[in-house]
Amino acid sequence: MSAHSLFAPLQVGAWSLKHRIALAPLTRKRATKASYRQHHVQYALASEYYAQRATPGGLLITEATGISDTSLGMDTAPGIWTAEHRDAWIDVVQAVKRKAPDATVVMQLWHRGRACHSDFLPGKQLPVAPSAIAISDATVANERGELVPYEVPRALEAGEIPGIVEDYRQACHHAKAAGFDGVEVHAANGYLINQFLESGTNRRTDAYGGSIANRIRFCVQVVQAAVDVFGADRVGVRFSPYGTFGDMHDDDPIALYTEAIRAVTRLHVAYVHLVEPRVAGAGDAQHPASTPSIEPLADAVRAGGAVLIRAGGYTPTTAHDTVAAGRSDLIAFGRPFIANPDLPARILHGWPLTPYNRATFYTPGPEGYIDYPVFSKAS
Ligand SMILES: Cc1cc2nc3c(=O)[nH]c(=O)nc-3n(C[C@H](O)[C@H](O)[C@H](O)COP(=O)(O)O)c2cc1C
Repeated sequence: MSAHSLFAPLQVGAWSLKHRIALAPLTRKRATKASYRQHHVQYALASEYYAQRATPGGLLITEATGISDTSLGMDTAPGIWTAEHRDAWIDVVQAVKRKAPDATVVMQLWHRGRACHSDFLPGKQLPVAPSAIAISDATVANERGELVPYEVPRALEAGEIPGIVEDYRQACHHAKAAGFDGVEVHAANGYLINQFLESGTNRRTDAYGGSIANRIRFCVQVVQAAVDVFGADRVGVRFSPYGTFGDMHDDDPIALYTEAIRAVTRLHVAYVHLVEPRVAGAGDAQHPASTPSIEPLADAVRAGGAVLIRAGGYTPTTAHDTVAAGRSDLIAFGRPFIANPDLPARILHGWPLTPYNRATFYTPGPEGYIDYPVFSKAS
């Protein structure tokens, strides 16, 4: 297979890339409380994990990383709101740059909003969201590991929202101090920013709800905070126009996301990252074939002058075809990059891919994390 379309250089904002194969953001839940001096400190072996996936001129997007002590509501994800968090991430960035000095590594910034459980929040406070609407079509683990219904979140007061934007800004300062080349604002997959965007989860009647212009306001404010800290040419935004949770879907996703994309590209962000309708969050589930296409949104990204990254269900062949046809600038790979640390080389040479083992996606420790082999002709 000719893979050349994926190996043409590309300027993405401030970054000079040498190929079009990005590491998608992948939560791995290794930052467990038991083994670390402070909660939500990145796992020591994350340095090795990310370095294994670093290539000259390649783009790595980190796993979603909590921006504040109330952003996660789970106990195994890394954070970036304390000096200890920052220092652990410095090790990761340095390991990446040792392996490939001209690799680009950006941090994905996370606030889960209603998608968490109070057992894991300070003082067991309720999760927050734009409106007091629980996730109704899924369950969540509590402290004892039992799967229970999601709680009805507390609707944020309008006066609290600027404070959350400030949390994002502070997280950006820490990410910058850790050496990251930029940040990706996680506005996808059903988390807080996504909850503000969609009419199913945002029933507010203030300046943050109602019209599309109001529902995208929080997202734009967060992106602006990131732009203030890093400069627009070091900021990306991830959207999943067909959501994660059944109750989230907007009546008119194309209209909503066209306006959201216009708003963030007006800030001159480096890239917009779109998740294909065919995948849902981190699951293997596929949306029905009848799900509409995101092609008009790809056009909106281009019209806004940003680089387009698409992710979700790509193979080396479909990635090549999509970039060759001009339908994306980069492709982010998730599951295949977990199982193939040398994915760009395998794609370049047409070497076979190791299948991923879903059972170790989220288990603590090194197994299924740093032990996937690079390709060897002998194997
Ligand atoms: C284990 C796992 C963890 C994930 N964690 C994140 C995450 O932290 N942030 C995010 O935006 N998407 C996350 N996703 C979604 C992926 O970034 C990607 O969109 C999805 O896996 C589809 O791409 P793929 O078919 O190449 O795997 C995750 C997916 C998996 C499988």
